[in-house]
Amino acid sequence: MSILIKGGTVVGPTGPYAADVLVDGETIAAVFAPGRGPDGPEVIDATGKYVIPGAIDAHTHMQMPFGGTEASDTFDTGTRAAAIGGTTTIVDFAIQRYGEVVQDGLAAWHAKTAGECHIDYGFHMILGGVDDDSLKAMDQLVATEGITSFKLFMAYPGVFYSDDGQILRAMQKARENGAMIMMHAENGPAIDVLIKQALERGETDPIYHGRTRPQELEAEATSRAIWLASVAADCPLYIVHLSASKALEQVKAARDLGRNVFAETCPQYLYLTLEDQLGAPGFEGAKWVCSTPLRSKHESHRADLWQGLRTNDLSVVSTDHCPFCMKDQKEMGLGDFSKIPNGIGSVEHRVDLLYQGVVDKKLSLARWVETIATTPARMFGLYPRKGIVAPGSDADIVLYDPAGRTRISVETHHMNMDYSAWEGWEIDGRVDTVLSRGEVIVSGGDYRGRKGRGKYVPRALSDYLL
Ligand code: URP
Ligand code: ZN
Ligand code: ZN
Ligand code: ZN
Repeated sequence: MSILIKGGTVVGPTGPYAADVLVDGETIAAVFAPGRGPDGPEVIDATGKYVIPGAIDAHTHMQMPFGGTEASDTFDTGTRAAAIGGTTTIVDFAIQRYGEVVQDGLAAWHAKTAGECHIDYGFHMILGGVDDDSLKAMDQLVATEGITSFKLFMAYPGVFYSDDGQILRAMQKARENGAMIMMHAENGPAIDVLIKQALERGETDPIYHGRTRPQELEAEATSRAIWLASVAADCPLYIVHLSASKALEQVKAARDLGRNVFAETCPQYLYLTLEDQLGAPGFEGAKWVCSTPLRSKHESHRADLWQGLRTNDLSVVSTDHCPFCMKDQKEMGLGDFSKIPNGIGSVEHRVDLLYQGVVDKKLSLARWVETIATTPARMFGLYPRKGIVAPGSDADIVLYDPAGRTRISVETHHMNMDYSAWEGWEIDGRVDTVLSRGEVIVSGGDYRGRKGRGKYVPRALSDYLL
């Protein structure tokens, strides 16, 4: 089966150019000057559309057990929603809980995903307890399981928290075996003190989730992670869900010294705020409880993050998709913000929300594609199979219509959530067609794929490592 995608503007990390793309089976066979492609194959008319690599969401948590409940999107519902939004690969987090064997945690995630996913997927591994056994397991996962990145938490004491000694040991191991350390950089023990004090003062509304996680405690943890990585012979470090100006300053300073330090941000930090969303009346703000938290609109966070994306001090935009419904889930925290399960769901909307940054002249077309597809592919060892429209790559392709419009609502989204964090938002652009390994799974915005067609993708080492 071959398909010629004709008349479009291909956008890659080096910018836009007019070209026709020939897909043969599951891969891209050739990229032709306009009109030079062969006759014969089925033609998809891409006139007026951008032809971009399928987006890669390198940070999702489908059906993650967390906060006494489980994230509401399954691998079935979540990967279907992702596909409709132009994402053709996710990298989700398999979890080793305290006291659990790393490989058993990984096996559990393979069991959850088997036969469920609509698009391709890989795993990072969350290490819930760094000890001799899990350090040994890191080597095995890198060598034979296609897992080349490990997430550690400086937050959530008693749940996922690792102390500095454990972090250092994992970093030393990663420096040896070539893996990337991903860090949730917030000072958890200090945050727990602030939470206790707030609750004692009767401050129980959702906004106090943000007020008890001040940016200083994100910046401090970010800085500490950077120094620990330095001690571990410049172990590659990737700061996840960076939300705040002061944390970004730490990353910038390290990068300006040539350090092996990278960071991602998420759409919620680029657009939403502590006051307008987390501070919504009554319990409404629970919809936007996530960690790191939304930041104040009275400070320069959002402008600084957009700038960081332009300067490559922020390399990637992921969603940290971790949805919980209001009913029965977010509601667990009525009267006590600390019991609201942490997470926002945006896996369906990242491509659109970042395209709005292009329309608003905050990002170039090339940077849009780079931050949502090419860099995540390179950062996490999926490149050149994913993340680029080029001969030999998987035919994961999105036709994006800049003349279209997207209105986001719980009434029309496909994620398994009873609200939208983006209710009523209108985007100047629209995902029109999505191919995943050569199969048209979205056409004219309508879903045509099926569950179980997505494959596990073992990952190589990051090509960002020095
Ligand atoms: O609020 C969040 N981010 N929930 C998901 C878990 C994590 O820390 O990434
Ligand atoms: Zn996190
Ligand atoms: Zn810089
Ligand atoms: Zn996360």
